[in-house]
Amino acid sequence: MAKQLIPFIISLLLFIFTEVEGAKRSYGVYNSNPVKLFVFGDSYVDTGNFVHSESYKPPSGITFPGNPAGRFCDGRIITDYVASFLKIESPTPYTFRNSSNLHYGINFAYGGTGIFSTSIDGPNATAQIDSFEKLIQQNIYTKHDLESSIALVNAGGNDYTNALKTGRIIDLPGFMESLVKQMSVNLKRIRSLGIKKVAVGLLQPIGCLPVLNVISFRTNCIGLLNVISKDHNKMLLKAVQELNKEAADKSVFITLDLYNSFLSAIETMQKKRAEKSTLMNPLQPCCEGNNLEDSCGSLDDEGSKKYSLCENPKLSFFWDTLHPSQNGWFAVYTILQSTLGQLIT
Ligand SMILES: *[C@@H]1O[C@H](CO)[C@@H](O)[C@H](O)[C@H]1NC(C)=O
Ligand SMILES: *[C@@H]1O[C@H](CO)[C@@H](O)[C@H](O)[C@H]1NC(C)=O
Repeated sequence: MAKQLIPFIISLLLFIFTEVEGAKRSYGVYNSNPVKLFVFGDSYVDTGNFVHSESYKPPSGITFPGNPAGRFCDGRIITDYVASFLKIESPTPYTFRNSSNLHYGINFAYGGTGIFSTSIDGPNATAQIDSFEKLIQQNIYTKHDLESSIALVNAGGNDYTNALKTGRIIDLPGFMESLVKQMSVNLKRIRSLGIKKVAVGLLQPIGCLPVLNVISFRTNCIGLLNVISKDHNKMLLKAVQELNKEAADKSVFITLDLYNSFLSAIETMQKKRAEKSTLMNPLQPCCEGNNLEDSCGSLDDEGSKKYSLCENPKLSFFWDTLHPSQNGWFAVYTILQSTLGQLIT
């Protein structure tokens, strides 16, 4: 009886051993040089560089980490989810870099910035890549480090809103073309600095953003504005295809479809709400200024809140009038997971 069990016990032990080793490897326990993530772009991916902004004021961060910590959100954003997908910690914001926190890469993204310069006094995408290049020149990251590294890039939304605000868009197709051209230059440059895979976000459906969907009293996304996103994305997809054609490895650049993932997450929430009316309208922001001139986080001279906050941010899609909530980002991330798989092949 016991003798018969021996082969079984041996194979069981072997099984347990290989499983544990596999788990250790995948969680990087023995890995002193994990995958690094370098992030470039705007508030959709910034995890803490814009120190003097609402991202460091209440009520941001109430879901995670529990206090304002530099995200334009109540909690985690897509950058954090991409990092968790790569089984690493979210990379340190560039502003807070020091000699001992560069292990998982750096986040150069800065809220309010664009491919071109915007009204915000922050580094545009080009300047962010300049900062990255400087660190490489200083040998803070070696060629070997970068060979297994991944870049996440998201920019363009603020270029459109900024141009619309200043009335600068006279020639929309021309503006779009110059934006996509510059984005293409940026992506190529990031790759040429030694990064292995580059993921770039397609433009979100801007007509769904609460700042604009208010025109429909938050019942619908504004189709006419979503067309801008669609056209931009068509052009960007073509540019990325060209970059992959030119590259030796034909899958260096991948796109994260924020357009369709936003729409699909919003639609799913709308359907659920049709069955259960107590759920939140996904086109309604969780946090919003009381007046047009106020925003989420605004206070009056006496320090009283000039904004309203929804009961449960975890039921919203949008945190404020521009940004998804943690719940929104998680839904988007869930949809993007299969695409993200291409980063680790
Ligand atoms: C580096 O920054 C981290 C936070 O990212 C902090 O915990 C640590 O104390 C800092 N180390 C040094 C040497 O300044
Ligand atoms: C980015 O910002 C720098 C510094 O402000 C500026 O010189 C440069 O022209 C900008 N680049 C683009 C592509 O707009």
